Formats: sequence, C-alpha cells, structure tokens
Amino acid sequence: MSGQAPFGVRIAGTGSAVPSKVLANTDLEQMIDTSSEWIVKRTGIHQRHILDQEKGETTLDIERRAITAALDAAGMTGSDLDLLIVASLTSEMRCPSNACRLIEAIGAQPAGAFDLNAACCGFVYSLNIADSLIRSGRHRAIGIVGCDTLSRYIDYTERTVSILFGDAAGAAVVVRDDEHPERGCIYQKIEADGRGWESLYMPRREEDVPPGAPESDVRMGYLRMNGREVYKFAVSKFQYVIEDALEQTGLKVDDIAQFVCHQSNIRIIESAKEKIGLPDDKVYINIDKYGNSSAGSVALCLDELMQQGRINPGDKVVFVAFGAGMTWSSSVWQV
Ligand code: COA
Repeated sequence: MSGQAPFGVRIAGTGSAVPSKVLANTDLEQMIDTSSEWIVKRTGIHQRHILDQEKGETTLDIERRAITAALDAAGMTGSDLDLLIVASLTSEMRCPSNACRLIEAIGAQPAGAFDLNAACCGFVYSLNIADSLIRSGRHRAIGIVGCDTLSRYIDYTERTVSILFGDAAGAAVVVRDDEHPERGCIYQKIEADGRGWESLYMPRREEDVPPGAPESDVRMGYLRMNGREVYKFAVSKFQYVIEDALEQTGLKVDDIAQFVCHQSNIRIIESAKEKIGLPDDKVYINIDKYGNSSAGSVALCLDELMQQGRINPGDKVVFVAFGAGMTWSSSVWQV
C-alpha cells in the first residue's frame, strides 16, 4: 500500500458496457406475480439490461467493449497490458477463462490472464490485487474487468431473484505511476466467511443443495437466494466495511470524494448512508437503471463517475462491495 514502494498506482482509464436489451419492471409484471410498484419500493430498481441471447450477444462481447473503452480512455492498447483479471462468476466456460479469450480479442498476449470469482466483490477484490501486484514491482499495467451476466442463470418463473439482477461489464486499466508515489490504494480489505453460503448459491446438481435447505421453486443450475438472510448480512457488512475503512485510514467522510458502492438494493445503500451519515452527492446510485449487476456493479459506477467528471486526480475514493460466499471488500484509493 501507499508508502511501501517508491512509485504509485494510477487508474489510467475506465470503460463499461451493458447489453442492448432492456428488461423493465413492466416486462416482469407480464412474466411473474409482481408489480413494478413493489419492485421499486423494495429495491429501487426500475429496469435492468440483459443479454439478448437470440441475437447471439455474449458475456465476452460486453467484457471486450468495456476493456477496449478503458484502454482507449488510457490512450493504451492491449499490447501495453502485462496482466488481465476478469472478475466474474458467469464466464462463458469453466475452461478456458474469459480472461484468456479476452487477451486474444484485444491483442494483449502474452499478458497473464485469469478469472477471479468473488461474486459481487470481484471487482473490488481485483482492484486490491492489481494495486498489490504493481507495488510488488512485478507488473506495470493491469486490466481489470468486472462483469456478470446473471440473466443466464436466473429462473424467470421465480419472483424473488429475477427482479434483482441485470447484466453489465465495467473495466479499469491500472498502471504504475513513477511520478506520484502517493497515488493508489491507501487501504484494502479482502475478507470472506463460508458460513451462510447457502443464502446465495447456484447448485449444479441435487447433491449441491445443503441438507435442510427450504424447498425451492428455482430450477437446478439457477441462482437461489434467501433474500431476508442476504439483506441482514448486507446491511451489517456494508456499514462495517465503510466504518472500518474510515477508522483504519483516519479519513473522515468529508475527506472522501465518492463512496463507490455495490448496487445491491437501494434500501441497503440507504441504510448505510443513514447510519454513517453519508451525503447523497457522495454515494453514486444507478441501480434504478441497471439493477444488481454483481461484479459489474462497482466497475460500472466507477466508469459513470469518471465520465461525469465526479472523480478527479488527487481525490480519495472508497470502493465497497459484498456478495455471495459470503464475501466483502473495501479499497480506499487516492486516484
Ligand atoms: N413481487 C411481489 N411480492 C413479492 C416479491 C415480488 N417480486 N418477492 C417476494 N414477494 C412477497 C413475499 O412472498 C412476501 O409475501 P408474504 O408476506 O405474503 O409472505 C413479501 O413479499 C415479503 O417478502 P420478503 O422476502 O420478506 O421481502 P423483502 O422485503 O425481504 O424483499 C428482497 C425481498 C429480495 C427485495 C430483499 O430481501 C433483498 O433485497 N434482499 C437482499 C438481496 C440482495 O441484495 N442480493 C444480492 C446480494 S449481492
């Protein structure tokens, strides 16, 4: 972290991409027993983007668009990268990784490439890992993609999970900065607790379903969630990771330009805002347009904030996420 290396780490460019197809709450009203009003009140979501599989749109497509935009913003090409991390739980295949296919698509070979599965925390985990690898002196330029296309694993006949998730990809290019040693990650936390994993999981076979699990209408191979359990976990961890980040860095809310938070449910974000006293203009919200895009969520927020000029060089930014596993993570940056 800052001070341990004679150089810093800079976010040189960001990008994002969402699929073309929009699934509005009113569309869901035609598919399941729900109402747009209920969804907005309980989650803050009005619509989400999902892959148009009939048109052949793929996870790799949006990942390629996001990392290409990030490289363009950085004034770089794929061949400038020495590592690419794709944070995702919805890569096309178990083997090879999407990261390997992406380095081919953007001409980054022989850059190292791997996929990382930390569910909704994937992008924040990856930011921390990329900063640490660059500070170790072993890497100079790392591409990070956060992407999930959970629409491929949602049973759209079931109403608790299908309302929440959307598909999106976001990307960042992080590089060694020899001029500004003060830049980069000031503090990071990567944590998990396997107890309670069955609150949010995707069983492939009957044997994966834990003994005593409640009867589920969700088909095998699709995402299952105990919404109330996840909600309780998320509310407490969200508050904890932000308070921990502020306490450990000695920073005050006023010192932070933006809290870039995983977009899980507007009520979860509002709860943390209220308990910690975070002002509206420092907590970016786009869940209304995209739903919860898992590993894409924080990356997409970062890119939109950068596009809007709301994060500038020298700003301190706190990234926070939590998700299946259960996992949670924070990353405090001087950008
Ligand atoms: N439309 C209408 N009614 C619905 C519904 C829907 N889509 N889904 C559930 N309901 C009903 C339930 O059947 C229940 O009815 P009942 O009172 O007659 O039994 C009622 O609404 C309340 O259900 P509950 O599950 O307690 O709702 P909730 O307030 O907890 O909201 C979630 C449900 C899923 C929105 C909420 O639990 C949540 O957001 N959890 C966290 C999910 C999350 O963030 N996951 C990703 C983590 S990275």
